[in-house]
Amino acid sequence: MNAVEIEQALSDLAELEFHGAEFPFQFLAAFGNKATTIARLRKGESNTSDLPGGLLQRNHIHIVVAQPGKVSQTLTALKASQKTGQAKAKFILATDGTTLEAEELATGDAIACDYAKFPDHFGFFLPLAGISTIKEIRDNPIDVRATGRLNKLYIELLRENPDWATFERRPDMNHFMARLVFCFFAEDTDMFPGASLFTTTMDRMSERDGSNVHVVLEAIFLAMNTKKEERAATNLPRWTHEFPYVNGGLFSGSTEVPKFTRTARSYLYQAGQLDWRAINPDIFGSMIQAVADDEERGALGMHYTSVPNILKVLNPLFLDDLRAQLVASGDNKIKLFNLRKRMAHIRVFDPACGSGNFLVIAYKQMREIEATINRLRGEANLASEIPINNFRGIELRDFPAEIARLALIIAEFQCDVLYRGQKEALTDVLPLDSQNWITCGNALRLDWLAICPPAGTGVKLVGDDLFNTPLDQSEIDFENEGGETYICGNPPYVGDKKQNDDQRGDLHSVFGHRCSQWKSLDYVAGWFMKAADYASETNSASAFVSTNSICQGQQVSILWPMIFAAGSHISFAYTSFKWANLASHNAGVTVVIIGLGDRATGKKIFQEGPDGKAALRECNNINAYLLAGPNIEVVKSRKPISNLSPMTLGNVPYDGGNLLIDADEMNGLHLGLKQRRRFVKRFYGSAEFIRGIERSCLWIEDEHLEEALRIPSIATRVQGVRTMRLASTDSGTRALAARPHQMREMNIGRAQTIVVPRVSSENRPYLPVGLADQNTVIGDKNYAIYDGPIWNLALVASRLHWVWIGTVCVRLRTDFSYGSTIGWNTFPVPTLTEQNKADLTECAQTILLAREAHFPGTIADLYDPDDMPDDLRRAHENNDETLERIYIGRKFKNDTERLEKLFDLYTKMTAIPAKPKKGKAK
Ligand SMILES: C[S@@+](CC[C@H](N)C(=O)[O-])C[C@H]1O[C@@H](n2cnc3c(N)ncnc32)[C@H](O)[C@@H]1O
Repeated sequence: MNAVEIEQALSDLAELEFHGAEFPFQFLAAFGNKATTIARLRKGESNTSDLPGGLLQRNHIHIVVAQPGKVSQTLTALKASQKTGQAKAKFILATDGTTLEAEELATGDAIACDYAKFPDHFGFFLPLAGISTIKEIRDNPIDVRATGRLNKLYIELLRENPDWATFERRPDMNHFMARLVFCFFAEDTDMFPGASLFTTTMDRMSERDGSNVHVVLEAIFLAMNTKKEERAATNLPRWTHEFPYVNGGLFSGSTEVPKFTRTARSYLYQAGQLDWRAINPDIFGSMIQAVADDEERGALGMHYTSVPNILKVLNPLFLDDLRAQLVASGDNKIKLFNLRKRMAHIRVFDPACGSGNFLVIAYKQMREIEATINRLRGEANLASEIPINNFRGIELRDFPAEIARLALIIAEFQCDVLYRGQKEALTDVLPLDSQNWITCGNALRLDWLAICPPAGTGVKLVGDDLFNTPLDQSEIDFENEGGETYICGNPPYVGDKKQNDDQRGDLHSVFGHRCSQWKSLDYVAGWFMKAADYASETNSASAFVSTNSICQGQQVSILWPMIFAAGSHISFAYTSFKWANLASHNAGVTVVIIGLGDRATGKKIFQEGPDGKAALRECNNINAYLLAGPNIEVVKSRKPISNLSPMTLGNVPYDGGNLLIDADEMNGLHLGLKQRRRFVKRFYGSAEFIRGIERSCLWIEDEHLEEALRIPSIATRVQGVRTMRLASTDSGTRALAARPHQMREMNIGRAQTIVVPRVSSENRPYLPVGLADQNTVIGDKNYAIYDGPIWNLALVASRLHWVWIGTVCVRLRTDFSYGSTIGWNTFPVPTLTEQNKADLTECAQTILLAREAHFPGTIADLYDPDDMPDDLRRAHENNDETLERIYIGRKFKNDTERLEKLFDLYTKMTAIPAKPKKGKAK
């Protein structure tokens, strides 16, 4: 269930008559527990509560319905209960139907409220549904509620008006919804006169069955599109006269309204009952985006982007600088004045703005700084000089684009109320500005210079006194011809395999004329390129959130040389962190933030620690791997650059399933022991190696072919391979039909093979390398080092190799995709002495022995990040220590230090030696 659905379910529950015996089960049902889970709890099978009438759901919650007036005592008993701790309950809850108290045990956060009001605290309980809570949502549930109400209305209206659901009419529907949002907000903030004018008028003038709601709303919308002085000439009904003239594009055009049902009318009414004053335009906007998107509606509200995450982009991009200038200005009125002027010329541009959350946050933060300036200058009531239309966006979908504009209008009004007071805010707000600063269109096809042109008025600076220009120019002067432009956002990431034809076409339009390998780029790369192009013609800087894949593997060498060639540098970067959203179990993607600019020095790298705090490092250059150091690209190499054994891809069966033998098929082959020994080997694909699944394969050397074909079951399978290969459209595969008894390769370790799976979860702390015996065939889901010295295994198993692979190889979502030419052959290792090799061999053996000790634990079991056995972890740590001493004489402090050393070594090892100068012959 998503947050919106849970809020709705809890609100519905609070409205039912309270039944003590039922409440705990109803409560759990509201969080999406399955009927079977609840049935088991009812029967008591899984209920381990030790309190009378208690319900204890393991790992979740302990609930007791208290005697009237005994809620606090009951909560104390719940806390003291042994079972609460034993069952690792996250929450305890007590209620008597009049009041309700609950506590989150890990944090000690508690709530106590009237029973009827507990749904207001739904955010508090969201962890019960595996949803990590975000402070803004916990503290202010209105945004989720508003989203929920409007979502229901939207669906009901589309059901009743199927023609409005068509591609042609969807924009009308979305425009209608944007109008509603404005009306709800306006009626609660005195933009409309009286209390709840919109909802009350709708309620008073429309039939309960909803049949004429559309007529009533059409009349209201028409009034808001008609200037007061022009109304007499129209035949607008009298009851619409109270509505102000709003327009601003919002009420212009068709005022047609979809037909309402009784249910739709009641949803509209319920939405009007919310207090829209407290709406957060940034949060609400991103939550409601999905309402108009049939595919995304299920994830309603889940993609909400938290304010702290947005600030990770905006602060280093420009807000930190403004704040620093504010502090440096002290109470110097001229400096403060100049800062205010500077801010009035700043444009913020989000070319994938969704419903405008980055723009809204940027606007609000700038207004806060401006309000401080005005206070320090004794001009607290001054109207803002920051024009809302300096906050521009491009958005592909029309509904978020509508909402973005509305969100900015709401943000402007709320800031005016906050910093200047309700009265002043109201004087300026209506009619709305008719300019539209959010362009609905495709950012990769549009000309950014046209949408956000660099032209404009330069800032005139004021000198310290009336006669002189400022003495110390550097303090107040800045390059500002036309103002500064800051480009920001979190454009869609979309890896190359997931792009649709339109998106591929978009990328082609950006990159087609620059490089041939653009097809391997993520969609987000288009935004970086366009920002770099824009910067080459304007005074601008940019920062986007992106999946880290554009800073890894082959994308590095495709994208970044083009960005650097356009004159941009990486001015700051946030290295990989989880971009948390409200999704269940917090399935946030791993992202980076990359700032582009032409700043020559003082580049900043932010690295988030486990506590969520970011450590800052300044450096002279940030390269495309987001490391402090020179620009460098790791490129594939056919042979190891270090003195390592060759690693090759495992054997490709191309067998139509005939050479491979599942465990349950083995008996059906009717092979004797000797035949088995001769023709069957263990087979390692990926699941076989990592999860210990039994599988075998036919392995027939040429010299034993005749003997093998005398066995009917083998002959049938070999024939199966031949048929399959001959039917292939690929000439190479057809050629293989000449030796159908064999895989494409017939490589096998005569003594042993080091096995490295091609794909492995990044959540594992080490790459799950292993050792196979001479009776095991390695399939092409793995790489193999055949009969190489075992110290190679120690290298693959090291943290150093893990960070190298994570950086230079491609990632598939949260998996590493190992590549021998790009990962192993490029791995820089200092020259190893015989002693080093002996030490590493011992480390590798210790790791293997530690695994043995946990037999039959599989690689998946043993490398479970939360459950790795201590002795195995110690063996790896020992291996790391041994190897890292070889590199720098001690353990590295962290992965960044590891990577920087590896890159440094790589640069040296791959440097082309300078040609010896030709000496003159003596
Ligand atoms: C990841 S969302 C970010 C939106 C918003 N900042 C947020 O956090 O909710 C990316 C947005 O880009 C929009 N988008 C996708 N492709 C686009 C394109 N080619 N041009 C403009 N916008 C696009 C999507 O519709 C979506 O609203």
